[in-house]
Amino acid sequence: MSTTAVQTAKGVLTFPSGFWWGAATAAYQIEGSVDVDGRTPSIWDTFAAQPGRIDNGDTGAHTTGHYQRYRDDVGLMKDLGLSAYRFSIAWPRIRPAGGSGVNETGLGFYDRLVDELLAAGVRPTATLYHWDLPQELEDAGGWTNRDTALRFGDYAATVAARLGDRVALWNTLNEPWCSAFLGYGTGGHAPGRRGHLNALVATHHLLLAHGLGVAALRSAGVTGQVSVALNAGAVRPFTDAPADLDAARRIDGLLNRIFFEPILRGTYPADTVSDISDITDMSYVRAGDLEVVSQPVDAVCVNYYQPDLVSAATDGTLDEGTPYPTAQHVRFHPTPGPVTHMGWSVDPTGLRDLLLRIRADYGDRPIYVTENGAAYDDRPTADGAIHDPERIAYLRGHLAAVHEAITAGVDLRGYFAWSLLDNFEWAFGFSRRFGLIHVDYDTLRRTVKSSGHWLAEAIIRNAIDA
Ligand code: NOJ
Repeated sequence: MSTTAVQTAKGVLTFPSGFWWGAATAAYQIEGSVDVDGRTPSIWDTFAAQPGRIDNGDTGAHTTGHYQRYRDDVGLMKDLGLSAYRFSIAWPRIRPAGGSGVNETGLGFYDRLVDELLAAGVRPTATLYHWDLPQELEDAGGWTNRDTALRFGDYAATVAARLGDRVALWNTLNEPWCSAFLGYGTGGHAPGRRGHLNALVATHHLLLAHGLGVAALRSAGVTGQVSVALNAGAVRPFTDAPADLDAARRIDGLLNRIFFEPILRGTYPADTVSDISDITDMSYVRAGDLEVVSQPVDAVCVNYYQPDLVSAATDGTLDEGTPYPTAQHVRFHPTPGPVTHMGWSVDPTGLRDLLLRIRADYGDRPIYVTENGAAYDDRPTADGAIHDPERIAYLRGHLAAVHEAITAGVDLRGYFAWSLLDNFEWAFGFSRRFGLIHVDYDTLRRTVKSSGHWLAEAIIRNAIDA
């Protein structure tokens, strides 16, 4: 594919031919049907059932009903003109209870979904783990237990054997930082465990799982590209004072480099290892692990939402709620400018800088933006339409940033909007809407928002206005 983006006319940003225009979802967020066809509970079923964990007591038990309506949803993707769709596979549908048995019925769902996508001209992009760990594996220690990584490798092999001839791009894991630091650090995500050491041990086992997943996909001879989706970000110092630069370095280490370096270089970043040495001697890292973790990937996949702005904390108090083990040295600041319904700042320059940084630090590799999007408080007007001009501005701004990175030489192959549909936004339940398509949770009726129509137009043009 040509990686040259061209400015064909004044004010028009044209994307390279063959650019992937995608949208993304995840199993627990859209499927519903959690107790059918042999699926067993995941940590998110358990967590969502605990009072106080999720806004309004919402759960993913029904959500958008995609498990039943996937054909219609693929039809909507076709209407939008998407050339790629990123979905995740629910581990507890494939290997019930995390055990060794394979559930053919569960596999059959994804088999049909992939065929439906191909028939619609949409490239299937599959994520093997988007946070729905089988509950039984959590009962045995979850991601703080090394064995979970080995089980993940077995599960990956099962899926690869069935779908390996048709998936265009694989993500072993989605945002392992969230699994480790929110799931096992702050407890804000399932399984709701707390502790900085837990988060660091889980990080290593997730990295190991990624490596074992890559190995399983390769041995199955999958035809698609293999990667992992990281929630990387630009971490900016509040000032150029050395203490603020050091604060940014610390957070960059624990958000970005603790994943990038083992995967792409086969080492943990030395400065981060030193930062966390009060908490752990990392004896859970065994000989040979980093070779497994660093097997070659075909692309780098990043999910981007907002940059971080940090300064040194001079009083040394530790914010109990922070996911970052060394945050007693760091203060987080709001980025000036607009925010989304999540309270996240809208700053496309963070995406551009992240893409340029990946190229500068890790070489000229194919990159996909596997998630980018915004929540707004979308409400249908009297005629039933959903006008979401802020989301259009968000998408336009971030696609312009992607274009800028391509023009600067980044081999950016595709962009997936988060999300295809409004869905279950984890601890926020249904209170936050990210979709290009509105979902009425009473009727499950889908309505394409103005942003969906805008994206469809961009796809037809393979271009946006500057
Ligand atoms: C990243 C996660 O992968 C996705 O599941 C989530 O809904 C979005 N960010 C928005 O928070």
